[in-house]
Amino acid sequence: NEKKLKKFYIGSIDQGTTSTRFIIFDGLGQPVAQHQIEFTQKYPESGWHEHDPMEIIASVHECIEKAVESFVEQGYDICDIKAIGITNQRETTVVWDTNTGEPLHNAIAWPDTRTKGLVRELKSQKGADKLQEICGLPLSTYPSSVKLIWLLRNVDEVRKAYDEGRLSFGTIDTWLLYHLNGGRANNVHVTDATNASRTMFMNLWTIQYDDGLLRFFELDREKIKLPKIVPSSCPESFGVMASGSLKGVRIAGCLGDQSAALFGQQGFSPGSAKNTYGTGCFLLYNVGEKPVISKHGLLATIAYDFGRNRKPVYALEGSIAVAGSGVKFLMDNMGFITHSHKISDLAATVENNGGCVFVTAFSGLFAPYWIDDAKGTLFGITHHTERGHIARATLEATCFQTKAILDAMERDSGHKLAELAVDGGMSNSNLCMQVSILELLPSSFWTSANYMKQTQANIIGIPVNRPAMRETTSLGAALAAGFAVDIWKEFDELKEINQKDRMIFQPNISREESAKMFKKWGRAVDMCRGWLD
Ligand code: G3P
Repeated sequence: NEKKLKKFYIGSIDQGTTSTRFIIFDGLGQPVAQHQIEFTQKYPESGWHEHDPMEIIASVHECIEKAVESFVEQGYDICDIKAIGITNQRETTVVWDTNTGEPLHNAIAWPDTRTKGLVRELKSQKGADKLQEICGLPLSTYPSSVKLIWLLRNVDEVRKAYDEGRLSFGTIDTWLLYHLNGGRANNVHVTDATNASRTMFMNLWTIQYDDGLLRFFELDREKIKLPKIVPSSCPESFGVMASGSLKGVRIAGCLGDQSAALFGQQGFSPGSAKNTYGTGCFLLYNVGEKPVISKHGLLATIAYDFGRNRKPVYALEGSIAVAGSGVKFLMDNMGFITHSHKISDLAATVENNGGCVFVTAFSGLFAPYWIDDAKGTLFGITHHTERGHIARATLEATCFQTKAILDAMERDSGHKLAELAVDGGMSNSNLCMQVSILELLPSSFWTSANYMKQTQANIIGIPVNRPAMRETTSLGAALAAGFAVDIWKEFDELKEINQKDRMIFQPNISREESAKMFKKWGRAVDMCRGWLD
């Protein structure tokens, strides 16, 4: 069976916030060829964050071609690529002209906060307090709904297209599917349930657009083309590649990146969770076949929906806007490092954070706080402060928010997590997860060096479990596609995938010490709110 599975290959497009990649996996879940490209981040004003939709499409094509080239060079046969899965940054909003297929504006990326004022206005409207019970998300600058409303109110061309009934809306999955299927010629306009659950237009119980929600946002379905909502794994709905070296290959899986990561981490059973440290950081906790509406600042979302008589599975989500983007900020804006991998080395130049706390609220502060008017704020600077302290404080900001999210999750679900599965770029940093390598040294070395303080395992007080292959987001999309074309039929068949050589990072400080650090973080959060523009 292992031999047979090795002969199947699945391509996975991961269109993330800062980069696009294409990975070809074998049937055992191992990557055999890949290519990755960073694309332009546009920040036209403070708090604004945009992407060029056409550059995104070009980056996808380039990644596919380069990865396929390497696949062929290694002696593999393109005909053995049985399907393609797509996974993508969620909420990012694209609008285009239905008649021409031309984008009508740059995509507004998910961390963009230009809608702060609009959100305040909408929150005071009748029915605003009921939205979360229907769609799982509270009103904030984060979901697609407010981005679309901003475009309708502020961009004449978008308004005109809407008034004339030729406005198409989509999240990045929809935009990619439209183009990969040949654009206007085939007019594929679909989204999967996980992506649709990030718009605020979908009813979480029916998995259909909800008239009440659309009415709240004053959207007339006659005037705007919304993508059809379909399950995340299906052989027909996502179409086939219309061009390039994979022309004719079926696109069979599609899911938002955080759902894909949960699936790639085998989070199939209620109670399992994962934390993905990408551009942002997102903790998803599988709650089973019924949504749980959070009372403590978390989101309810679709974890995955595999169709074929399987019920959709829901998750509670804690979203952190800044993780890897904080490291990128230290690199691009501050010039602290020349490559993001060097963040751990810089952080290791000092023993601890030297009293610094960095609330990296560059997009306001997301879960569980939801402070739209927070700004990034660095506390505790003295003459003693070095770059290394700030590097540590930047990594720790994500770890502290993860702790706040786990506390909220425990309150919402009534369960305490026994261990946290992690993946994504920042999880490569041993120092950020926990400096386990130092455990090989005599304990006098690391305890006296105070090295182990304030990393993820210590801050949350439970073990952190990291797979050897960290591309779990891409893997999840590949698995979804593989399911649709019957490479696998039961989740049980996946249980060996990516389980070897996992690394466990154990907490090793007292609860009191950990609580003291977290208290300091809480004070810093209180002080970062209320910034006026
Ligand atoms: O909700 C936004 C999320 O999907 C972005 O993911 O991996 O680009 O940080 P990532």
